[in-house]
Amino acid sequence: MTMDAGIPGPIATQGVRADADAFLVAPLDEVSRERLAATGLHPGLVSVDDAEAYARWLQVVARGFLDGERSDEQIAASRERGGYRRMTGIYDPSAPMPDSPVASIASWIGELTVPGGRGIPSCAISAVTVAPTHRRRGIARAMLEGELRTAAAVGVPLAMLTVSESPLYGRYGFAPAAASASWHVDVKRAVWIGPRPGGRVDFIPRDRLRELVAPLHERRRLAVAGEIDVPAAQWDAFAGTRPDSTDPGKTRAIQYTDEAGEVRGLALYSVRENEKDFTKSTVTVTYLLAETDDAYAALWRFFIELDLVGEVRAHELSVDEPLRWMISDQRAATVMVADHQYVRILDVPTALEARTFGAAGVVALEVSDVLGFAEGRWLLTVDDAGRGEVTTWEGSEAPAGAVAVSLGIEELSAAYLGGVSLATLAAAGRVRSTDAASAARVFGWHVTPRLSIWY
Ligand SMILES: CC(C)(COP(=O)(O)OP(=O)(O)OC[C@H]1O[C@@H](n2cnc3c(N)ncnc32)[C@H](O)[C@@H]1OP(=O)(O)O)[C@@H](O)C(=O)NCCC(=O)NCCS
Repeated sequence: MTMDAGIPGPIATQGVRADADAFLVAPLDEVSRERLAATGLHPGLVSVDDAEAYARWLQVVARGFLDGERSDEQIAASRERGGYRRMTGIYDPSAPMPDSPVASIASWIGELTVPGGRGIPSCAISAVTVAPTHRRRGIARAMLEGELRTAAAVGVPLAMLTVSESPLYGRYGFAPAAASASWHVDVKRAVWIGPRPGGRVDFIPRDRLRELVAPLHERRRLAVAGEIDVPAAQWDAFAGTRPDSTDPGKTRAIQYTDEAGEVRGLALYSVRENEKDFTKSTVTVTYLLAETDDAYAALWRFFIELDLVGEVRAHELSVDEPLRWMISDQRAATVMVADHQYVRILDVPTALEARTFGAAGVVALEVSDVLGFAEGRWLLTVDDAGRGEVTTWEGSEAPAGAVAVSLGIEELSAAYLGGVSLATLAAAGRVRSTDAASAARVFGWHVTPRLSIWY
């Protein structure tokens, strides 16, 4: 993680890490604590230094996601890698196991890439579970609102998460800001018509891929809005290099080396044999990372031309993959699009001034926010270089010469990475504007946002 690739103001000068550390140890939010206490529940921070409390917390997370009990080995591997997170448990003293939480949440300050190539501090939220015995009593709401207030209090301008179900987080101001595409390619039908770059593709051991993947992702992630700095623990899970990995031998690793001898791309995949027809196995590309166009072409060509394979599947791709233009028959690919990276703006001026915009213009935003963080009238002035400056405006009329846009924080967050046009949101009745097309030109971005992992 870069220490200082931040935004102007106190966060950049202190470095992202400093805020991340302040957030990890910040006290629990008082409003949420009181709300939970009124129902007999108590929140508590969980540390990886307390092995037993951590184990109980982790078991509750696993159960919450309908998974089985974690083994001692799994708990140890998770604990060793889990120190980057702020973990909260909600405890019910009247339950038969009062030391086991009835709800969980984890969060940390990561970096979200925004249009223009900057990574800005963002509160990543995960492991949100509430025991079925305690559902629909407002526990999730108390946890989510509490984390957002805590992040805002230490000056973090954004929050982000990936979701199990779409309807959960709009009520807290989150919106899908980068969609993902799942591809199923009938490779018997899709002939490779893309470039055939020099260089070479080779198999490598998984632990070699694990060494190469983090620095390669670091070099690549600022080029695509929506990507984040991936916690080290996640790379181990991907590469099957955690000591508790189940069936790691199923995953194969390859690298692409360019003509100058530099590794520019990596991929991981697994194969499921088709016992009825050995020429039609299914390959799932678990991860493909390409630093250059040549790496992208060489790795995808490898998959499209595999022998004994009928279908290649890949998930968390961009909705605008070059791959579509590299196969002879676009209908050989079935593409499903889903909401994926959710974003929630907490600090409007800091968030907007951090990104680059698609066109010059002046936009008078009137933002509503039920949780209050982003509520206000904000005047965004974008210069010819695409840099924005945000001030406030007052009165009932937008300032002369400005395009007026009235929207909720969900809609502003949805449009923030350039993944949806303000004109589309206006046509959907989600945004009101005096000139939605002009507002859309300002907020637009030429690179489709994407997030290549779950967290
Ligand atoms: C999703 C989950 C965390 C909700 O917890 P909860 O404590 O029951 O939620 P709350 O009682 O605080 O509900 C808060 C709001 O969300 C709504 N809500 C909760 N679960 C919902 C669901 N599955 N679908 C739609 N709305 C839901 C509630 O109706 C409530 O709405 P309102 O306050 O706007 O009236 C819980 O059901 C759970 O653990 N599910 C399994 C794990 C999971 O999917 N976690 C989310 C990971 S991204």
